[in-house]
Amino acid sequence: MCGIVGAIAERNITAILVEGLKRLEYRGYDSAGVAVLSAAGDLQRRRRVGKVYELEQALASEPLTGSLGIAHTRWATHGAPSERNAHPHFSGEQLAVVHNGIIENHETLRERLKGLGYVFTSDTDTETIVHLLHHTLAECGGDLTAALKAAIPELHGAYGLAVISGSQPDRLLAARSGSPLVIGLGLGENFLASDQLALRQVTDRFMYLEEGDIAEIHRDSVQIWDASGAPVQRETVQYHDGAEAADKGEYRHFMLKEIHEQPKVVQRTLEGRLGNDHVLVQAFGPQAEALFAGVRNVQIVACGTSYHAGMVARYWLEELAGIPCQIEVASEFRYRKVVVQPDTLFVTISQSGETADTLAALRNAKQLGYLASLAICNVGTSSLVRESDLTLLTQAGPEIGVASTKAFTTQLVGLMLLTLALGRARGNLEATIEAELVEELRRLPTRLGEALAMDKIIEKVSELFAEKHHTLFLGRGAQYPVAMEGALKLKEISYIHAEAYPAGELKHGPLALVDADMPVVTVAPNNELLEKLKSNLQEVRARGGELIVFADTKAAMSNGEGTHVVNMPHIHDALAPVLYTLPLQLLSYHVAVLRGTDVDQPRNLAKSVTVE
Ligand code: G6P
Repeated sequence: MCGIVGAIAERNITAILVEGLKRLEYRGYDSAGVAVLSAAGDLQRRRRVGKVYELEQALASEPLTGSLGIAHTRWATHGAPSERNAHPHFSGEQLAVVHNGIIENHETLRERLKGLGYVFTSDTDTETIVHLLHHTLAECGGDLTAALKAAIPELHGAYGLAVISGSQPDRLLAARSGSPLVIGLGLGENFLASDQLALRQVTDRFMYLEEGDIAEIHRDSVQIWDASGAPVQRETVQYHDGAEAADKGEYRHFMLKEIHEQPKVVQRTLEGRLGNDHVLVQAFGPQAEALFAGVRNVQIVACGTSYHAGMVARYWLEELAGIPCQIEVASEFRYRKVVVQPDTLFVTISQSGETADTLAALRNAKQLGYLASLAICNVGTSSLVRESDLTLLTQAGPEIGVASTKAFTTQLVGLMLLTLALGRARGNLEATIEAELVEELRRLPTRLGEALAMDKIIEKVSELFAEKHHTLFLGRGAQYPVAMEGALKLKEISYIHAEAYPAGELKHGPLALVDADMPVVTVAPNNELLEKLKSNLQEVRARGGELIVFADTKAAMSNGEGTHVVNMPHIHDALAPVLYTLPLQLLSYHVAVLRGTDVDQPRNLAKSVTVE
């Protein structure tokens, strides 16, 4: 989604802004722009449709120089991707704004501002902000901070804003409501961004704005007011983890790098959370032990890949912990009248912790009488984490590829820890089974490494898909959501139409589609559903369908005409969903590479969906 970068310094900041935009490219966008105030007091901008590279080219032929500036990558919501809709937006020649989010009352504001004589040059909701600010600026005697404070209550919706003005070159202003912003602290220079990753080349010290905050950022000081208008201090967070995440290293794409990081990050997600033979319930927070004993139901809410992780967890929670579990996508949950069962734990799952629908669902849930909320999230500083009662942080590290990989498998690990902790707290899980699964969890990173070693074989199999337009993914039990995730990965990055079905539903419709042009991908661990799955596969073969089967070495399945079997390392059935995800990720990756698509930044998609 949209990205913001801002800087106030003594040196020329244009290159810092552009580098910041590049670091946000992974989030998905369709145009980019930058506005810089020159030493002579001219505020100028360059904007381009397409990649940041296009903007760089524009700056190479027509450079901008100055020590105060803002920049933006736009993911179109109101108005098509075009140069005139790209940010920064101006009002007059002295005022510029970049904005993430959506202003819901933009039509009313637009009419009012037109009535006041403002001429609109774009179709965006953002342009109403800059004209409104221009209007209030006059009313506030030219004080930009006072004007922003006066304009904010008139904006309905979600925003992260950065504002600069030629009339007050000593400040960069920011406001946050529903769209994250972080201030990067330097020595005699300060920065602003929608994600700290954008600023890791200039600082490792950050101050996160909270909901309703307004910040006035100078070169050597920062002043913040909270939603009530009171001055506040926000904590400074220092990162010591180097800039490793922003580098592809030896890999051709971030996605491939992140797929191969999975043994390491799964190991990290387990660290400090396993006792000898049990899960350490304190991993979920100090109140978790007391709370979990009273949990009688679980409601999970998430979006996209995180929703698939939740679907796997439903099988686990009911089977291993004996706890009824419901799961729903956040965009549906938030607008539905929900009947809440007593003693229900409300669980959100999110890589970013900033997904608009998931956050809104959590905020609604707080009014509905749930026992408590738990966030399983990859970003400790995110809104979701800050607003939840309990947290389990996945330790995937920054995920750059838009198609989620390591975030998913670490979520699954977190959800297995939750299953075991809840099962024990409710007295539904035998100690021997918990001990066995804890042991299996310890072995999981090694098993994942073995699965990744199949890469060359999977690359070969991917050739079967290069010319295909449709595919079917089948799974049974907890492998059904794994099939859904496999289908999602393939469509996200290779643009091949892929659908997932529970294998038992094959005869109820999708079998009609099966022919030699429709490969069918199946995950077949060695469990009690294997024989049923084998019958489903016969049904596919009988219609001339080509089968690609990822099967347990003990499942005794072998290659035959039209059947390609990839033997997977043997694993405990409960953890099979984690393991079988990996070959499906690799398959999508190799198909996308063969088809020449943009693997890390697939068309039309965003890493973090911070608008509805
Ligand atoms: C976007 C991303 C997906 C992600 C989903 C939910 O659609 O492209 O990869 O699964 O948002 O994001 P979250 O950060 O809440 O897990």
